[in-house]
Amino acid sequence: MVKNGLWNSLDSANHLGVDFRSLEIKVSRSENLPVLPQIVSQVLKLADDPNASPKTMERLVESDSAITAKILRVANSPFYGLSGCTSIARAISVLGMNQIRSLIVGIAYQQLLSGKQSSTNFNKIEFWKHSLAAATAAKILGKLKMPMKSEELYGAAMMHDVGLLVMDRFCPDQLDQAIRYANETGMELWQAEQLLFDFTHCQVGKILADRWQITGMISDAITHHHDLESEEQFYKTTCFVAAANHFAHMCGFTNSCPKTGHEIPDSVLEAVDLPEEQIPVILQVVQGEVEKAQSAFQIGGERAA
Ligand SMILES: [Fe+2]
Ligand SMILES: [Fe+2]
Repeated sequence: MVKNGLWNSLDSANHLGVDFRSLEIKVSRSENLPVLPQIVSQVLKLADDPNASPKTMERLVESDSAITAKILRVANSPFYGLSGCTSIARAISVLGMNQIRSLIVGIAYQQLLSGKQSSTNFNKIEFWKHSLAAATAAKILGKLKMPMKSEELYGAAMMHDVGLLVMDRFCPDQLDQAIRYANETGMELWQAEQLLFDFTHCQVGKILADRWQITGMISDAITHHHDLESEEQFYKTTCFVAAANHFAHMCGFTNSCPKTGHEIPDSVLEAVDLPEEQIPVILQVVQGEVEKAQSAFQIGGERAA
């Protein structure tokens, strides 16, 4: 890749004052990390428990009053359509355990974004819209191709770019530079990061996933969604998250990055077994669902800037 303009002098991580090892130490020792509400890790664990009952879920949700209030608000939105629903028990019985789990992940993830972003070029609202769009796309693709995994794919895709939140907090100037570079050159953000710093938001996200004790397919999707060749154990689900990320970009939710010319690589299409001619139809469905989800979560309707 060719560097140009003001970037000619930027040749290595040293020029930008960041290297992965020091960032890793800083992040893993910090008390100032984004905090994943406890309920999310419990809900994720519940997914692996064959004995988990709606009652267990109900108790868990009701232990967090802020989440309870938000679930009821979102469940009563036109998207979920539970008009007049005032209890978590009813929300669970109508929407089902899986949908409630996705809702909790979405709501909790949205809470992570409170507070101002530090990077000038990184926009947290756009980040949230991109995450929600990817999650929605992953769920739709999952329903088509891996129905048993569709809700888990939703959670994994929701969190896939969490490394950007860490970069915004711990190296905002570098994140600014990478976003600017991506926009000037038209390359993807992870490529700009790799070129400028020799690491990407994926590796940074893995540090946070470890601190949050997130393992399995979600951790792998965070770590490998731009580098599928390095994925082993959860190749299939990581490919779905990678595809969902591309769909989010193609729908215009570009996460502060270049808006045009985004395509799904053939290797990803092949991995998720999606014929190219189905892309426009799926894009349309994703687009419509994202718009409805945005209004359910009360996010502004405009697309990524
Ligand atoms: Fe990414
Ligand atoms: Fe992404």
